[in-house]
Amino acid sequence: MAHFPFPAEEESHADVAWSDAQTAEIREIIARYPEKKAAVMPVLWMAQDHWGWLSLNVIRLVAKTLELPPSHVLSVATFYTMFKKKPTGEHLIQVCHTLSCELGGSEMLIDRIREKLGIEVGETTADGKFTLERVECLAACGSAPMCQVGTDYHELLNSHEKIDAFLDALAQGTPLPRTEMDQWTYSQTS
Ligand code: FES
Repeated sequence: MAHFPFPAEEESHADVAWSDAQTAEIREIIARYPEKKAAVMPVLWMAQDHWGWLSLNVIRLVAKTLELPPSHVLSVATFYTMFKKKPTGEHLIQVCHTLSCELGGSEMLIDRIREKLGIEVGETTADGKFTLERVECLAACGSAPMCQVGTDYHELLNSHEKIDAFLDALAQGTPLPRTEMDQWTYSQTS
């Protein structure tokens, strides 16, 4: 099996196994598709959600579960950037750098995060709290520049003041500051 792009932690999760609840959930996922093979992405996603990233042992477990060659599961996991092949920080900050965000100030956003956290793109802070990544369009182009953390979008991060408040709130685990987009959405729905 190819080792690239797996890190030294490739032998992590040595005794990895599904719980009974996970096994039942996988059975339900498989039942939605005409063949087991089609369940590879949701099962990989479930594995990542549980173990945080996809080590070779987790890839092997998914392959065994779906009766697929490990190389097939590995090819899916390495094709999609949403699947993580190495551990990330507690908060994975994914900054969009596609056209609208680029024009709206994504480089300023990335530079400010680098400066505040003392890491480069692709790195994790020493305390394991933050990882910074560049990603392609996240379909929130109207509120550029923006980033995603976990499953949440943070939009209109167009000044140092807003970025600092956003990072401080993440670090302290306090509610994130509202943006103009929240207020706009609220006013449209109220
Ligand atoms: Fe950034 Fe679309 S260009 S969300």
